[in-house]
Amino acid sequence: MAVVRCAMSAWRPRRLTGCMTTVVLGGTGKTGRRLVRTLRAAGRPVRAVSRSTEVRFDWSSRDTWAAALAGASAVYLVAPSDPVLAGLFVKQATSVRRFVVLSGRGIDKVAGDAFQGMAAAEQAVRDSGAEWTILRPNNFNQNFDEDLWRAPLLAGRLALPLGDTPEPFVDAQDIADVAAAVLLGGHDGRVYDLSGPRGLTFAEAVAAIASASGRAMRFEEVTPAEYRASLLAEGVPGEVADELNLMFAGMRDGHLMPPGDGVQRVLGREPIDFADYAARAWS
Ligand SMILES: NC(=O)c1ccc[n+]([C@@H]2O[C@H](COP(=O)([O-])OP(=O)(O)OC[C@H]3O[C@@H](n4cnc5c(N)ncnc54)[C@H](OP(=O)(O)O)[C@@H]3O)[C@@H](O)[C@H]2O)c1
Repeated sequence: MAVVRCAMSAWRPRRLTGCMTTVVLGGTGKTGRRLVRTLRAAGRPVRAVSRSTEVRFDWSSRDTWAAALAGASAVYLVAPSDPVLAGLFVKQATSVRRFVVLSGRGIDKVAGDAFQGMAAAEQAVRDSGAEWTILRPNNFNQNFDEDLWRAPLLAGRLALPLGDTPEPFVDAQDIADVAAAVLLGGHDGRVYDLSGPRGLTFAEAVAAIASASGRAMRFEEVTPAEYRASLLAEGVPGEVADELNLMFAGMRDGHLMPPGDGVQRVLGREPIDFADYAARAWS
């Protein structure tokens, strides 16, 4: 049974709240899961929520929002793709004094629904009257072993519509560590670009994983049309395939290429290197 630390009437102004619970949306996902672990290890009251948690939270079922938000003083906000929902959620979160938004690098330059959802979440917290911090990460290391690129890699070939544009992949643990730090306060109104320490081409990243895992793997550049067709053949919905193609177009244009310095600024240390990630996750 999840513990609700304190109840809060919807009309009370944000500054009067005495609750301490941090609600982590996407609490079972790549960053949320790690953030929950870090907060629990530090003894901080935390409620992980998603469609599969004990306190169920579903963006598409608004009747699940109140229980997820009960007694919340802070929220780690993994944005929904529907931009309208982000605004409604933040308005409903009246007890929340601090929001940390998981957004993405390039949201101001790349089109697409997912980017609109993140942009709407950013705007909603800016307008909320609460403290807010925005995290804009590059592509995650964990996309390779916990998400869409795992199966093709295990099959020996990752094919994407990207050539030799380097990407400074960031580790989900670094994002979680930054989120845990900014949730303590002192970062109100800041926007942090979160990257790994160096850019790697996808060919270099796949080579590092192949070396760490001892498996034969190769990267292959394909056209956006070929990529879309391959995703549809795997059962990925057309709109998701189009979203991914928009993201890769932004990456080809170099919008995500320069490493950001958010990890260093918040944590005072270098981000996790891709080689260390590969050794840890793939050997
Ligand atoms: N991956 C990247 O490289 C990258 C880069 C920049 C930004 N981002 C952004 O990061 C976000 C994803 O974060 P993540 O990678 O930590 O999570 P994730 O691993 O993609 O997992 C998604 C999380 O959201 C939950 N979820 C999915 N649908 C939901 C719904 N309808 N209602 C409530 N919860 C739902 C999932 O749990 P259930 O399935 O149990 O509901 C899970 O906890 C996205 O907004 C993405 O655009 C990702």
